[in-house]
Amino acid sequence: MYQIEQSFTMKYAFPVCFDRDTLAPESTVLTDILSRAGDGPHRVLPVIDQNVLIAHPDIVDRLQLYADVHGDVLELIDPPLIVRGGEISKSDPIEVDEFYLRTQTQNIDRHSFALVIGGGAVVDAIGYAAATAHRGIRLIRMPTTVLAQNDAGIGVKNAINYRGRKNYLGTFAAPFAVINDFDFLATLPQRDKVSGIAEAIKVALIRDGEFFNWLHENRGPLAEFAPEPTERMITRCAELHLEHIRSSGDPFEQGSARPLDFGHWCAHRLEELSASELRHGEAVAIGIALDSLYSYLKGMIGIESVERIRATLEGVGFTLNHKALESLDIHKALEDFREHLGGKLCITLLTREGAAIEVNEIDHHTMEECRQQLLGGVWPK
Ligand SMILES: NC(=O)c1ccc[n+]([C@@H]2O[C@H](COP(=O)([O-])OP(=O)(O)OC[C@H]3O[C@@H](n4cnc5c(N)ncnc54)[C@H](O)[C@@H]3O)[C@@H](O)[C@H]2O)c1
Ligand SMILES: [Zn+2]
Repeated sequence: MYQIEQSFTMKYAFPVCFDRDTLAPESTVLTDILSRAGDGPHRVLPVIDQNVLIAHPDIVDRLQLYADVHGDVLELIDPPLIVRGGEISKSDPIEVDEFYLRTQTQNIDRHSFALVIGGGAVVDAIGYAAATAHRGIRLIRMPTTVLAQNDAGIGVKNAINYRGRKNYLGTFAAPFAVINDFDFLATLPQRDKVSGIAEAIKVALIRDGEFFNWLHENRGPLAEFAPEPTERMITRCAELHLEHIRSSGDPFEQGSARPLDFGHWCAHRLEELSASELRHGEAVAIGIALDSLYSYLKGMIGIESVERIRATLEGVGFTLNHKALESLDIHKALEDFREHLGGKLCITLLTREGAAIEVNEIDHHTMEECRQQLLGGVWPK
């Protein structure tokens, strides 16, 4: 037997910027990022979420003006690729295919950039396309929803759906850079303003009790989308996610534990059951409620905590007894999740506000009781 132990490490580093008016001609946030790749001009294919274009009809002109002013650093590939917004961009292969086609017809190579501007779904779909075309095209993300700015757009994962299975195809691929421009958020539909707050409540509950307390206290202003608390919520949530990816020792999730996926085992199933009528964040809010209630019924957290969690979720605007819960088969959903994790079930539960543990077994009977209580709307009992 002859064996070589192959081993190497690779360092990943990318900036996550919190900004406003990034496409103003005088801004150098984007050009500074591109300049990290050496002297320009760098070829950049803009990929824009159609709903962002509808809400910001001048965005293409602004991009062009920006490129004209910064011609030494950036050359825009024309025309931009406009893709449908929302989950359809992940469920229908058309958007990914169009991206691949563009890479061929416009000679986009591994030294070129894609600049994706859109919600978490478009960022995920184009992230997947960019990671797989030429085995990886440099990607700059400009997430335009709360959820994309505080979670989906800042990490190292991307995915598309396959035959109704959520996130079945995907890769781990770090972006070249992320720019969270808060100015995009003003045009979000009310539902999407609220939806992303679920990820902040999630990460606060498992990692940062003080942040959870702040979210609880500020649930009113957050429900009204007051800019200052909204931006603070996004920034702190992003910090906690980035810190986890950086320091967990498992950025590419090779182990079974998914500590950041608190409330997610059932959220993904609820999204499927609702045929994507439920937004990801809305489903996560229900998942948080379910697993918090379970933590309480198992004696792991007190009744005041579960009441505060409910008040926070409902206070920012979530509805927690969605009809998709009616068809949630607890046993099957847990089994599927176990399979998804590679054989060993790993569910995150709360031990207090700001701390969590992983458990490998779930009492299906109690979880079913939680589902019933949530549906009935009278909880915790
Ligand atoms: N890769 C990851 O780590 C990760 C993490 C969490 C979630 N996700 C994925 O993110 C997706 C959800 O993302 P989302 O909550 O951003 O929803 P979304 O992308 O579906 O966006 C919601 C809606 O808002 C529109 N929109 C986006 N920006 C807008 C703006 N500024 N003004 C007006 N309309 C705008 C979109 O076109 C869409 O119709 C899910 O597919 C989920 O699986 C991925
Ligand atoms: Zn999530």
